[in-house]
Amino acid sequence: MSKTFKVAIDGPAGSGKSTIAKEIAKIFNLYYLDSGALYRAFGYFVKKMNFDLFNEDDIIKALKDFDIKIIDGEYYLGDEKLGMQIRTPEIGKAASIVAKNEKVRNKVNEILKSLSKIHNVVIDGRDIGTVVLPDADVKIFLTASIEERARRRYKELLEKGKNVNYEEIYKEIEKRDIADSTRDIAPLKPAEDAITVDTTGKDIKTVVDEISKIINKKINQE
Ligand code: DC
Repeated sequence: MSKTFKVAIDGPAGSGKSTIAKEIAKIFNLYYLDSGALYRAFGYFVKKMNFDLFNEDDIIKALKDFDIKIIDGEYYLGDEKLGMQIRTPEIGKAASIVAKNEKVRNKVNEILKSLSKIHNVVIDGRDIGTVVLPDADVKIFLTASIEERARRRYKELLEKGKNVNYEEIYKEIEKRDIADSTRDIAPLKPAEDAITVDTTGKDIKTVVDEISKIINKKINQE
């Protein structure tokens, strides 16, 4: 089997990873995988089962029954299609908690790695360039100021008809940054060979163009 082409896009909450990764997937015809959605789906499932997010036995039980499928880019928990119900700040927090568990990370990584063996992929997350795809062809680390990231999340949720508060989102992002970058396993950090792209004050097209240039350069080298 020939080697697949892999792009890793990591960065903190609200840095624009998923928007950018989806655009890059379209341009380069890559399979888009949202690793955060898998942690969110698992956090959602644990809560739905009335399990305790902090209890190891509950997490192990939940992992056994975690029936996640990705069909045509849509995520399903059993027969339930996952959409806005995993995009709430509450589920974001739950995802951040379960993401500290090594067994949960192994499960998510297994799904991502097996798909990236059969598809050319772009995966967004926190540890894609460092842990999941250390051999990725292109590694991007997206950053933006907390203010800008909070503004983006606020706007995105408002547009989706959610009743949201800017201050709360700001604090939530700040807290999640700390939790994600200080945890022991797979903390949020750029891979040594990642290219950092600061998106503060840039529109989506500018960032997509910048990353497309990096990818094209890599393709032309191969
Ligand atoms: O990107 P997001 O907001 O959908 O991610 C939700 C949470 O999942 C985030 O707080 C940390 C966790 N996560 C992770 O630990 N590793 C990843 N590769 C992606 C997400």
